[in-house]
Amino acid sequence: MSVFNASRLLGKTVLITGASSGIGAATAILFAKAGTNILLLARREEALKSVQQACVAAHKASGLKEGGEFAPIQLDVSDKAAVAGLWSKVPSTLRNVDILVNNAGYVVGRDHVGEIDESVIEGMFATNVFGLIAMTQLLVRDFKARQAGHIIQIGSVAGREPYVGGSIYTATKHAVNAFTASMMRELVDTPIRVTEIQPGMVETEFSIVRFRGDVNAAKSVYQGLQPLTGEDIAEEIVWAASRPPHVNIAETLIFPVNQAAATVMYRAPS
Ligand SMILES: NC(=O)c1ccc[n+]([C@@H]2O[C@H](COP(=O)([O-])OP(=O)(O)OC[C@H]3O[C@@H](n4cnc5c(N)ncnc54)[C@H](OP(=O)(O)O)[C@@H]3O)[C@@H](O)[C@H]2O)c1
Repeated sequence: MSVFNASRLLGKTVLITGASSGIGAATAILFAKAGTNILLLARREEALKSVQQACVAAHKASGLKEGGEFAPIQLDVSDKAAVAGLWSKVPSTLRNVDILVNNAGYVVGRDHVGEIDESVIEGMFATNVFGLIAMTQLLVRDFKARQAGHIIQIGSVAGREPYVGGSIYTATKHAVNAFTASMMRELVDTPIRVTEIQPGMVETEFSIVRFRGDVNAAKSVYQGLQPLTGEDIAEEIVWAASRPPHVNIAETLIFPVNQAAATVMYRAPS
């Protein structure tokens, strides 16, 4: 843990979707260092197991006795039946989740309207919007019953600004923003906290997925500037989660220093 005291997180249970890579994996490792237990959700089982091992190592290195239980659960958040059946896969010791990090999400392509594959449109909405809503609905019922809990949504600068070639992705992240802001208003008379973290450019597997596995095209996105890392965003997430119970970090927009808007950035000449 670097600049903040996360002692309020000791022994808490965190559920992270999209925990198999990038921001989700880095967030799991940082929560592990802070003495939490974690449910790690994603579709790729082997990748989840590697993150689980990294969490075990991070927790051991912390020397903390609280937390340290890490359960990988293979789950596609766009599969409604799988989300509804989640609790049957959760170890009973981790049944009371304190913090939900809704991080699973992706973009595919930069096609313009009129040329976008139906399957790409449906896939992004199914994961980024319907999956996030399904996970939120499931957990908020628990949080209301226990009058506790924190929902942390991973939005994006794309949820604040549309851009050319991003019609579907920006529509999904605007939907996340509207859904989250409405829920925050609904929960104003409860102790349940609602946070939306909105990253700019973060170098993860995100651009590789966007360019359908073309690693060179993905690398070119970050040419001439230093992007954020998954660890940078993990710090914001764990920081928001570790504020005192009366403090709610409602929204945070985070850019690399050479980015100023979704498509405004300075690149050093090569
Ligand atoms: N990187 C950026 O520049 C950036 C900027 C702003 C916002 N974001 C947001 O940050 C979040 C994390 O992205 P990242 O940058 O860390 O990219 P990433 O490395 O590609 O991670 C995406 C994660 O989401 C999981 N995922 C995707 N579809 C899923 C599904 N249907 N069910 C369950 N898990 C699913 C992936 O795991 P599996 O493939 O194993 O399922 C993976 O763990 C996303 O919501 C993204 O929109 C990223």
